[in-house]
Amino acid sequence: MIQPLRGLTGLFALVLVTACSAAPARVAAPAPAQQVEEVEEPSAEPSTADGIFTVAQAERGHELFRTVCSECHDQEDWTEVGFRNRWEDQSVFQLWYYINDRMPYDDPWSLSRQQVTDVLTYILQLNDLPAGASELATDDDSIDDYWIVWRTK
Ligand code: HEC
Repeated sequence: MIQPLRGLTGLFALVLVTACSAAPARVAAPAPAQQVEEVEEPSAEPSTADGIFTVAQAERGHELFRTVCSECHDQEDWTEVGFRNRWEDQSVFQLWYYINDRMPYDDPWSLSRQQVTDVLTYILQLNDLPAGASELATDDDSIDDYWIVWRTK
């Protein structure tokens, strides 16, 4: 009973000693200065930050959320960090087809193109992305035009 405990304590002490002795070495040898400058250019690609839907359209999406999606989803499902990371830098097209092909989970393919598009814009609005002057159109070419970025400009 005692043996494994002793072994563990010894290991712990060893880790401590290693950590302590490593510290000064790190101070003595600073990393060489990075010469590569990374300037972050604002993306030229049209994206969800550009006001690609209207308030009225997102409101229709909200209504669909209330009647269909809220059976299984909270709004937080679409604003939490895991969701945002999963979809960041994907195209709107991919999220659109995810919803179109798989949702509602218990009845896929039951939504019209208009409904899929509307509820997608509701998800954008939930994430504080700006509305604009015209609706997001429902044809493939239009939804394929944009990248998903969650930061506003
Ligand atoms: C009967 C339950 C149910 C309904 C209704 C439903 N969903 Fe889902 N939804 C799920 C489940 C379960 C998952 C996870 C699926 C998986 O991981 O394969 C999911 C996943 C998603 C995702 C991906 C989330 C992520 O984290 O990447 C989106 C977007 C989504 N649903 C949108 C919708 C929309 C929009 C509606 C309404 C039109 C809807 N869902 C209705 C059960 C449902």
